[in-house]
Amino acid sequence: MCGIVGYVGHRNASEVLIKGLQRLEYRGYDSAGIALIKEGLHVFKKQGKVAELQKIIEGKDTTATIGIGHTRWATHGGPSDGNAHPHYSSDKKLAMVHNGIIENYDVLKKELIAKGHTFESETDTEVFLHFIEQIQKDNNIALEEAVRIALNEVIGAYAIVIVSEDAPDQLIAARKGSPLVIGIGENKSEYFLASDATPIVEYTKDVVYINDEEVAVIRGGEMKITDIKNVEKTPYIQTLEMELEAIEKGGYDHFMMKEIMEQPRSVADCLRGRVIADQMHVKLGGIRHKMKDLMNANRIIIAACGTSWHAGLVAEYIIEEFTRIPVEVEYASEFRYRNPIIREDDVLIAISQSGETADTLAAIELAKSKGATILGVCNVVGSSIARSSDEGAYTHAGPEIGVASTKAFTAQLTVLTTMALMIAKEKQTLPEETLHKLLVDLESIPEKIAEALKCEEEIKKISEMYKDAQNFLYLGRGYNFPVALEGALKLKEISYIHAEGYPAAEMKHGPIALIDEEMPVAFIATKDSSYEKIVSNIQEVKARKGKVIAIVTKGDTLIPSMVDHAIEVPDVHEALMPMVSVIPLQLLSYYIAVLRGCDVDQPRNLAKSVTVE
Ligand code: G6P
Repeated sequence: MCGIVGYVGHRNASEVLIKGLQRLEYRGYDSAGIALIKEGLHVFKKQGKVAELQKIIEGKDTTATIGIGHTRWATHGGPSDGNAHPHYSSDKKLAMVHNGIIENYDVLKKELIAKGHTFESETDTEVFLHFIEQIQKDNNIALEEAVRIALNEVIGAYAIVIVSEDAPDQLIAARKGSPLVIGIGENKSEYFLASDATPIVEYTKDVVYINDEEVAVIRGGEMKITDIKNVEKTPYIQTLEMELEAIEKGGYDHFMMKEIMEQPRSVADCLRGRVIADQMHVKLGGIRHKMKDLMNANRIIIAACGTSWHAGLVAEYIIEEFTRIPVEVEYASEFRYRNPIIREDDVLIAISQSGETADTLAAIELAKSKGATILGVCNVVGSSIARSSDEGAYTHAGPEIGVASTKAFTAQLTVLTTMALMIAKEKQTLPEETLHKLLVDLESIPEKIAEALKCEEEIKKISEMYKDAQNFLYLGRGYNFPVALEGALKLKEISYIHAEGYPAAEMKHGPIALIDEEMPVAFIATKDSSYEKIVSNIQEVKARKGKVIAIVTKGDTLIPSMVDHAIEVPDVHEALMPMVSVIPLQLLSYYIAVLRGCDVDQPRNLAKSVTVE
């Protein structure tokens, strides 16, 4: 978590940094700060969001052409002004921002205290910087050399940027485990550093993604990249494909709403060139050399966290049904810490919007070490998970900025369904006619989502009625069970209402005890193979006076006659229904959160990119 930025060039650095931090705020918003060099090193920092930092710098001289910035998601030390980054060295000549965790900071801190260091914060970052400072002092060497030595000693994850009062045209940066991108301005006249490309895109499209254990030194308009053993590396300059509009709200009040509404387009983008039903074409271009391994896999293991894990659950049902390959879905954080059986003919699919989730990355490393094939399904191009996978497929949903994931989920389902059908075609596990029908349905998903989005006004009214609920239950069966989990997650994430998702049949084994007239129950009850069963489950809830909101297939008359509110979605094959049935639930959580006055895009305690374990 945490977002870092850096700038050196001819512009007003504080403006570039503040704007950059606003773009990175989704990574954490416990505090924000900047350090600028202009006739000395000046640090401004404040607990709270970037807006709070802006208030304290107002009226102060913040003109400078070099600086660094940080937006924090607290790990070591609670959110406070003191724990906010940037941190100073003891002589106050260096300042550093850091995204990540230094695991051996306690040992280092004790050693440094013994040498006379005192600390102003409880952070591992301040220890890290003092450690670098001490190495430089002890050995009388250049700062970059001291950084390299320090990096060989620290254990943990980091992306750092350091400025020094003594070198007012220099930025030193390094990464291991946390992302870092460098944007190169025209004629190398300026450089931008950031945790992702969103703060950079409006200035330049030429970027270099720094690799793990690399150190970048930008000085006098030149950039030099070495590894931590000081072997020089040739930077690989890539062209960003992102457009500025993609990271702005485009007239919506919140990114989340913009992203919900974008789904007909994002799913269409995700399908483009991959599925052409009439030609029986179904192909993910990113999976070529590993296609054989995938088709012949002994087992597919899906590792993911949060919403991506829910997409994995849907994929388990789809892949097993259409390809008959056994699938196991794992919470990446559990998988990596037990001793799972992984064989060389297993394929691990890592699903991650950000491509930076630390536990998912660690699950990849574990599976890799056992010889399994790794496929990544990521949204962020060039992200760590995308790069550490053997092959994979991007979801092409465009930047997702709202902390609660919406369009990434439907895009993940699109890729995973495409993957299942691609395997089914190659392995001939589906009759041609069925495959064709599924491809036709898959191609129609963007318009089906557009139709489902029309329930917005109805959802607004329902949200008014239930905005003060204390609890919510979400129930679904089969393909709609993971949708129930996702609906509940969305609601708790952004409205802070306690919500649980359950397989509808499991209700009898516990949650039914919670049902009374105060308990809203959302049933995802579209017409599928378990329709009759879910009708019975709805009756069980109604018999106990629960309030039922049901997501039903258009034209259904039975369930609407039994429930308090019925929301229609268009019909589609049951395996593809989650991409459509989740839409009203995204809207429901959004409107309830707005009505409760919650900060929809930046819910408390959460961060979009979880780079700590
Ligand atoms: C965080 C985000 C969720 C996301 C999860 C996994 O918890 O708030 O929205 O689903 O991380 O993130 P990933 O980027 O790996 O999909």
